[in-house]
Amino acid sequence: MGQKKEIRLRSRFTQDIADSVMRYVASLPFDRRLYKHDIQGSIAHAEMLAEQKIISPRELTQIKKGLQLIQLEIEQGKFQFKPELEDIHMSIESRLYEIIGAAAGKLHTARSRNDQVALDIRLFARETAQDTINVLIKLCSALVNHAGRNIQAVMPGYTHLQQAQPVLYSHYVLAYFEMFRRDIDRLEDYLKRINVLPLGSGALAGVPYPIDREFVARKLGFSSVSANSVDAVADRDFIIEYEAIAAIAMMHLSRFAEEVIIWSSKEFGFIELSDAYTTSSSIMPQKKNPDVAELARGKSARVLGTLAGMLAVMKGLPLAYNRDMQEDKQGFFDTAYTVISSIDVMTGLVASLQVKPARMKASMDSYILATDIADYLARKGLPFREAHDIVGRLVAYAMSQKKELNELDIKGYKRFSPLFKEDVYKINADSSVRARSSYGGTSPDQVKLQIQKAREILRKYEA
Ligand code: ARG
Repeated sequence: MGQKKEIRLRSRFTQDIADSVMRYVASLPFDRRLYKHDIQGSIAHAEMLAEQKIISPRELTQIKKGLQLIQLEIEQGKFQFKPELEDIHMSIESRLYEIIGAAAGKLHTARSRNDQVALDIRLFARETAQDTINVLIKLCSALVNHAGRNIQAVMPGYTHLQQAQPVLYSHYVLAYFEMFRRDIDRLEDYLKRINVLPLGSGALAGVPYPIDREFVARKLGFSSVSANSVDAVADRDFIIEYEAIAAIAMMHLSRFAEEVIIWSSKEFGFIELSDAYTTSSSIMPQKKNPDVAELARGKSARVLGTLAGMLAVMKGLPLAYNRDMQEDKQGFFDTAYTVISSIDVMTGLVASLQVKPARMKASMDSYILATDIADYLARKGLPFREAHDIVGRLVAYAMSQKKELNELDIKGYKRFSPLFKEDVYKINADSSVRARSSYGGTSPDQVKLQIQKAREILRKYEA
């Protein structure tokens, strides 16, 4: 037998694959971006094979040189991707044959494409999770800086999108810091859980060679090796879990985007977006549109759709590998790109936001202080439930008189309770936020404390 210079996988067939089938089953158009991870994994695998004397040192040298050359070819745009080679794994292996000849055939010893693809995409997932953490840290830092710069502005806080109680704008912004910080925590936890090497599982049953999986794990920075070969090639939890974390992060981003859209409207006018982060209208020259925020809100829908799609791909599959699983990639790549770019652009938007404290203040009527007035009576010894009832009637009376609460004279107040004194007029939005000094509350002191703590957390992340 002479040395074969190409991979032949169809020796049992008498017919060539149909062109339409070849195109249909191919993942090369989208999995070529895994070339680096594939080569990285192959080099670690080959080094292990040599270490275990399954291939010779000479063969290892040839394989490594060949793979490094292929990486260069791909990066310089000189690599010829051939559609008939189905995926990136076959494309690289086939090119290796052309470059180094027979030794290339030894690379796939003790390996299957099933554990190979599981490895490649896991390497990609690890990298992507880290990139996502990095952009989230920047977003968190932009939010904290923005809160710090606008610490005093008081805005109406809402429940049911009805004015509820005054809050510091900075406190409101820090709520988003908390959400994104949880996303970072989730990703860090995720990284620990997925850092398991699947290679060495073979097609599904393990391999009949004296391989050293720990060696490969060390080379590739995995903290452990998978314990069950069937699970290792059938598992896509690590993709679904990233997509789930991404969906939650995008849900957070989308809620923030929604605030930005509402707040920048004429009716609210709480903030102004910088020109660099707005778009114009093709017909209405006066328009300054918050398209960036709208797209973040819109793209979040696709990200959470991808999660649902991938769960659907997996839920009916018998173990172990099924070709359905090739459908994991496009959604995963798309989600990774969408999440990272959305967070990145929204970070720039946050940094450029202009806050309009006067507009915030003007948007509040006096009724937003009703709870404070009830608390005023409660502090004077009235049970809170009674105080609530009294202030409810006081508000109804003021409304019937078409008056704000601070426009009622003291007699007006005393009609409802003798506990009302002149000092009731001291209640305003500022006193309201100042009073809410419980831990985690909106008083300026509490918010300053949380900004300080947030900065400490960010310093740890950035270290
Ligand atoms: N392109 C395939 C995928 O992305 C690689 C694994 C193929 N394995 C197989 N037995 N056909 O899932």
